[in-house]
Parts: sequence; structure tokens; C-alpha cells
Amino acid sequence: MRKLIVANWKENPATEKAAAKLFHEVAKMKRTHADVVVCPPFVYLEEVTTAYRAMRASARKNFAIGAQDAFWEETGAFTSEVGPGMIKSLGARYVIIGHSERRKYLEETDLMINKKISLALKDGLRVILCVGESVTIRKRGFAAAKKFVSEQLRKDLRHIKKPVIVAYEPVWAIGTGKNDTPEDAAAMAKFIKSRNAKRISCVLYGGSVNSRDAGDYVQYKEIGGALVGGASLRALEFKKIISTNYGKS
Ligand code: 13P
Repeated sequence: MRKLIVANWKENPATEKAAAKLFHEVAKMKRTHADVVVCPPFVYLEEVTTAYRAMRASARKNFAIGAQDAFWEETGAFTSEVGPGMIKSLGARYVIIGHSERRKYLEETDLMINKKISLALKDGLRVILCVGESVTIRKRGFAAAKKFVSEQLRKDLRHIKKPVIVAYEPVWAIGTGKNDTPEDAAAMAKFIKSRNAKRISCVLYGGSVNSRDAGDYVQYKEIGGALVGGASLRALEFKKIISTNYGKS
């Protein structure tokens, strides 16, 4: 099975010029073993999708652009928000929704996330829903983490019928250099899929993934790929992640 590697650039890089450079470096990379999605900040989305559309069809194979969020209304008096239809109209095909940084710093709730997923799917975007437990919950044990994630999924996917991609990102592993063990990540991915088999097309793992350890996670058949933050900003590092053969599982 081909794996899906998603680059979440977060609030990076600092300039449009640097974003264009990084995009062109990633666009040139061979995607023999993985499908690759690049998710730049909104402000660079037009630049990146324009460059993407200018590529030959064969060069765009197994490659797509995504956004890092989308609002739950298409248009209207919602200052600074961006609707999923706008994102789609630029040629982006994916959207990350419910990232833990948005839940934490912007107090995004499960209800808001549910509304965002609903509209994004209606508009035909592929949704990457992020879930994951905090360190406080994980300290209570793996069963507590599973219960928390299961609750997030129940609320976030309420009344959602179309399948989404779920990214399991334990909050304590994001940007910290700390990793979940591959065994626990695979067990959680299996658990997530088993809870919502029809509505989840695959489960990615995210949290401090780099070129040295990506294979430890992605080799599992339960793990469909990786959502990569910091390491996706370093072209060579990202190239190593996407060019690894993660096996036939
Ligand atoms: P890092 O890879 O920087 O830990 O970020 C993970 C993440 O949040 C991807 O969405």
C-alpha cells in the first residue's frame, strides 16, 4: 500500500520567497513510495497552487496541495476566515482540520471542528482530522488515551458520513522531540480505525517525525503515513522521509 506523507508547514517559512523555494524543492522530489501533500500557510496558498498548476500533469502525479484549516461558512462577514470553497477554487485538494495547536491556542472546540469538517467534505476537499491526547491524560495510561481519542472522534465526526483521514498526533509529541513508541502508535491507529471503520480511510501518525524514525511508524500496516511538521521545512530531511520504501504492508 502506498503511504501518504503530509507536510504541515504551520506558520512557516517567514517569507513568500522562502515558501516558493521550499515548494519547488519538494515538487522536484521523486514520489516512488508515497503520495505527498504540502500544506502551506494561507498567505502562500495562491503562490503554491499557481506553481503547482503550472507543473506538467505527469510531474503532479502523487502530489497535492492542502490548507491548514477551513472555516464552516463559505462566504460572509467573518473577518479573516477562509471557506473551503475558496481553497478548492485555487486547486488545493486537502485540508487539515482540528490540529491540536488550533484547539489549544485558538480554543477551537469539537463542535467547531465538526462544522468545519462537514462543509469541507461537502465542497469535495479531503479532510485530515487531527486527534490526540495531552500528556496529563497519557500519564493516566494508554486506556485513558484511547478513551479520550474515541470521544474526540465521536464529537468531531458527528453526522459525518463521508470518509476522512485521521492523523493521530499525541499532543505531548508535537514539536518536543518526544515520540510515542511505534507499537503504541500502531495500536492507537488500529483502535481508531476499528471504532469508525467506514468513516476513516486511513490513519496517519504525527509528532516529531523525522527521517531517522519515520520508518519505525510508517512500516506498520495500521499506519497509513505521517503528518510531518518541523522536518517538512528542511528539504533534504523531507526528501529522505518521502523517498523511503516503507515495505509492502
Ligand atoms: P512536529 O513534526 O514539528 O512535531 O509537528 C507535528 C505536527 O503537529 C504536524 O501536524
